[in-house]
Amino acid sequence: MLAVGSATMCEALAQIVGASGRVVGLDNSETILAVAKERTPDSLSCEFLLGDVHHLPFADATFDGCRAERVLIHSDDPSRALTEMARVVRPEGLVVVTEPDLDALVFHANNSDAVRRLTHWHSDRVRQGTIGRRLPELFSRAGLQDVRIFPSVALSTILSLYPQTLLTRTQQHAVITEQEAEELREEWLRRERERSYLEYGVFFTVVGCKA
Ligand SMILES: C[S@@+](CC[C@H](N)C(=O)[O-])C[C@H]1O[C@@H](n2cnc3c(N)ncnc32)[C@H](O)[C@@H]1O
Repeated sequence: MLAVGSATMCEALAQIVGASGRVVGLDNSETILAVAKERTPDSLSCEFLLGDVHHLPFADATFDGCRAERVLIHSDDPSRALTEMARVVRPEGLVVVTEPDLDALVFHANNSDAVRRLTHWHSDRVRQGTIGRRLPELFSRAGLQDVRIFPSVALSTILSLYPQTLLTRTQQHAVITEQEAEELREEWLRRERERSYLEYGVFFTVVGCKA
């Protein structure tokens, strides 16, 4: 199995493939690879490799399956990345990718107009902010078949650092006013105390089979 940009996922995959299987965790960050190596028990058969999803250093049909999560959202060329992932999987092997759609990100507040400006600004600034909805089309273009889509919602009632960081950044870029930022911050903290706060994002897990 190949885990692209997902070296921290190797432990779970190694348990699935068992002692006779092989798991390779590939990432383009040495720092992430070092963390993944440290976290993965030596008893598991995992290899870690520095590499780029757009140019995978493997021969065609090397793996039974390839998995990536929240990687294509950062890609300059997701179509090329998926074509590479499909190339290194053997015929009848699976490609499985999970990505969000940042246009569907919600932080609950009365001023939904300001929240929309904040989330859409963020979605537009991430390289592939709406990659989730495009995955089925990209899978088909990469020649993958029997494409299946599994949507999910990641929901929290606890105020995370995510909206708070976005609040600071959007205020700095004049996407929302200082007053709107202050009111949102106060409302979110109050809602969290009163247990009426919600934040959620939509993810798509797409599975395709190599012909
Ligand atoms: C948002 S993190 C997701 C990590 C993990 N998959 C997860 O869901 O928790 C994105 C990961 O993809 C890696 N990455 C980004 N671009 C990549 C590329 N072109 N090739 C390989 N890895 C990449 C990053 O270094 C990082 O480890």
